Amino acid sequence: MIASEVAPFSKTGGLADVAAALPLALGRCGQQVTVVTPRYRGITAGQWVSEVSATVAGVTFTAGLFAETLGPGVTVVFVDCPPLYDRDGLYNSGQVDFADNPLRFAFLTIAALEWAATAATPVHVVHGHDWQAGLAGAYLRQHFARDAVVGQLPVVFTIHNLAYQGVADKSWLPRLGLGWDLFTVQGLEFWDRLSFLKAGVNIGDAVTTVSPTYADEIQRPEYGFGFDGVMRARAGALTGILNGIDTAVWNPETDLHLPTPFSAKALGGKRAAKRAVLEAAGLPMDDAALARPLVGIVSRLVDQKGFDLVAQVAEPLVDSGAAFVVLGKGDSRYEHMWRTLAQRHPDTVAAYIGVDERMAHLIEGGADLFLMPSRYEPCGLNQMYSQRYGTVPVVRATGGLVDSVQPWNAAEQTGTGFLFADYSGDALLGAVHDALATFGRPAEWKRLQVNGMKTDFSWDRSARAYLKVYKGVIAARRTRRPRARPARA
Ligand code: ADP
Ligand code: GLC
Repeated sequence: MIASEVAPFSKTGGLADVAAALPLALGRCGQQVTVVTPRYRGITAGQWVSEVSATVAGVTFTAGLFAETLGPGVTVVFVDCPPLYDRDGLYNSGQVDFADNPLRFAFLTIAALEWAATAATPVHVVHGHDWQAGLAGAYLRQHFARDAVVGQLPVVFTIHNLAYQGVADKSWLPRLGLGWDLFTVQGLEFWDRLSFLKAGVNIGDAVTTVSPTYADEIQRPEYGFGFDGVMRARAGALTGILNGIDTAVWNPETDLHLPTPFSAKALGGKRAAKRAVLEAAGLPMDDAALARPLVGIVSRLVDQKGFDLVAQVAEPLVDSGAAFVVLGKGDSRYEHMWRTLAQRHPDTVAAYIGVDERMAHLIEGGADLFLMPSRYEPCGLNQMYSQRYGTVPVVRATGGLVDSVQPWNAAEQTGTGFLFADYSGDALLGAVHDALATFGRPAEWKRLQVNGMKTDFSWDRSARAYLKVYKGVIAARRTRRPRARPARA
């Protein structure tokens, strides 16, 4: 696998969780997986195993490869190239993307393929994640075409978020050592520019995305970000596989960030977690505060996550009788919005602007509700973490949220959360009011919590679905007749 972030070593979002948990689940299925990722600033893990050199954009870069075992069958190989990766951010600094990102991630991909070409155990499939790994197929078919070991390897490409398209000026193409023959509508040309994402989608033997509903949505203009036509053209190669969650890391029975463990059978510890999160957030912790419903948010503070809806109804929302604890980082306007709300409502709103793993676990454990009003959501992990911790999700009905939150049905006592369809502040407010009304009926609420806690979100089923995709592309390549190979660029 090629992934630009892998938890716990580097992380800006859910990709990092998936790039660790999916390989581990495949490892449990008896597979051997190597994940190749940059050795960013601060990563000290890994033992030196070898070295790789490649000339990209006229400069020859040499990187050390450092290997670390992540679990049974799973190795992370860090590409150590300080001029490219020893920086104060993964992709940007102060919200400005690094200008040489095309070069940084092209080199990562080449290093991964060079590693695969010389690996002691033969590689059977290359799996790239998101635009950063989008050029894997292009390099395999052009640079490695005549390589007996990797030249004909199948490539699987996974879209975690179609909005990040890795678009660069077309002058990058020759600088990255790729031929103009790829610069076509069916290749990697996107509105006269080069798109790494398009390369991944078009040159992959199979394309997956992280939920079945998102796989449908991205074939429509409303969710396609200009790629809906490309996705429709590749519909036959596209599968939506819902992410799982790492049930060892996100487990209320063993979570060391919680003051007291709890489970579906013994929910008592949740009250201690609520007290702890109120304390950590600087909110009152008296009986009235403990009785008041607590809404948690853990999120990148970006448009995708629907915070413009919160802005539309901010005052009625915070006046609805609940308290709010928000952990997030991102666009300054949303950081400002939550800071201002917290200043205005110091007893019921707390905003922690930053990234904090312990606080994320405490919020999942201690909140009663979890709010995720996403504009779009390829999968989303926090709504699944929440259910595991008996924290009831209130989500917009989009993407993976549809596939992982079942609407509460009071008559039948089924369902795990509250969904609203309309992308409007009023619809958001309506769903929160429904959830709060149910919170006021303790027996129903407990049933909702337990339904969520009992839902199986483990990776094992999804890992088997990926295995099926891998086997499909391997079999398809074996049966394919040999055809003329593009010339080495
Ligand atoms: P996305 O990848 O779009 O950000 P996901 O729900 O897939 O959304 O994954 C987000 C991941 O990042 C989760 O593991 C979540 O707990 C974590 N996360 C997001 N913001 C923060 C934060 N401010 N502090 C700690 N963890 C965070
Ligand atoms: C992306 C998506 C998120 C998904 C994650 C992992 O960051 O925004 O919905 O859960 O990738 O696949």
